Amino acid sequence: MEQTYVMEYKAPSEVKDIDVVNTYELEMQAGEIVPQGGFDYISGGSGDEYTLKQNVDCFNQKGILPRVLADVENPDTHTSILGHDIKAPFIMAPIAAHGLAHQSKEAGTARGVSEFGTIMSISAYSGAKFEEIEKGLNGSPRWFQLYMSKDDEINKLIVDEAKADGATAIILTADATVSGNREKDIRNKFVYPFGMPIVSRYLTGSGEKMSLNNIYAQSKQKISPRDVTFLSEYSGLPIFVKGVQSAEDALLAIGAGAAGIWVSNHGGRQLDGSPGSFEALEDISKAVQGRVPIVFDSGIRRGEHIFKALASGADVVAIGRPALYGLALGGYKGVKSVFEYFEKDLKRVMQLAGTQTVEDIKQTELFDKK
Ligand code: FNR
Ligand code: LAC
Repeated sequence: MEQTYVMEYKAPSEVKDIDVVNTYELEMQAGEIVPQGGFDYISGGSGDEYTLKQNVDCFNQKGILPRVLADVENPDTHTSILGHDIKAPFIMAPIAAHGLAHQSKEAGTARGVSEFGTIMSISAYSGAKFEEIEKGLNGSPRWFQLYMSKDDEINKLIVDEAKADGATAIILTADATVSGNREKDIRNKFVYPFGMPIVSRYLTGSGEKMSLNNIYAQSKQKISPRDVTFLSEYSGLPIFVKGVQSAEDALLAIGAGAAGIWVSNHGGRQLDGSPGSFEALEDISKAVQGRVPIVFDSGIRRGEHIFKALASGADVVAIGRPALYGLALGGYKGVKSVFEYFEKDLKRVMQLAGTQTVEDIKQTELFDKK
């Protein structure tokens, strides 16, 4: 069956504040308005979707002990990372092709993140150009996530462009050298309905009407610690290695010059059967021993999840799918509503756990429910 939806792909375009009861319901609501091919690509995981589910379920393995008489009111969620003061300990995860969710594309997400007051991560597979995204960011901090080309001269050009755009860190995604087994995309014959201007220079085309497998095949598979060192020395920027799920890889990355570790399993979209990302965090944090900052993602859906990740060694977490569902439902205002939901929910948890500041969260002992 020839895939026909590509020509008719019409993403939502409404811009409005949205009421967030919880982020699980946002997925259902977004599923009603985002064209199926795009929604399945966003919501789907790989294989049996064991890891996609485990990412959320595994937060239940640890609990937060309520504390009373703690003399806490109006908990403060402010924190900083790499010299950026942010309103709350969460940032935007790098996600490809926001135009699947909303016609404002990455610029819409960027405006919501910027108006909330935290850091935007721009994906190499963005459907928008840097200058389009800048209209949404309006000078707010941004990091650039790189899928490397096989050709380092092209990698230098892309890094130069990201630096010129004002990126203050590079996120080297290392867990997606080939695509996970995304069965929904296979069934839908999913191809991106628009191009990827930032990496089109290393693609055989713009990226439009290309599958993820095809695009990944044109990126670099043979990633090693040498790439971390190359990027750090060439860019002069802090390098996060994203997709780390083992203490060994965290130490390899730091030894090669990584200035940050991004604990993630790509939202259960890559190697199915791998642990829930939160299950991997504590060992990595113990190995890192505070030498570099840790970003955590995969499965953050509630304030409790943010709290547990910070209490287990993360400095900040990254919001992924919930932000994209907010984008679909309300454009930049929807994204801002989702970030405000997480801020409110985290403050509630902090109050009931007796923690006034983000530092207090980091000092909190969770209890094992296993
Ligand atoms: C992603 N993710 C991702 N990561 C990355 O480094 N570069 C990318 O371009 C993308 N693209 C992408 C698209 C979509 C639709 C999703 C859902 C995810 C992974 C992302 O950064 C993050 O690791 C996950 O989204 C975290 O999982 P949850 O919390 O969103 O389920
Ligand atoms: C994905 C890639 C683009 O997960 O990171 O779809």
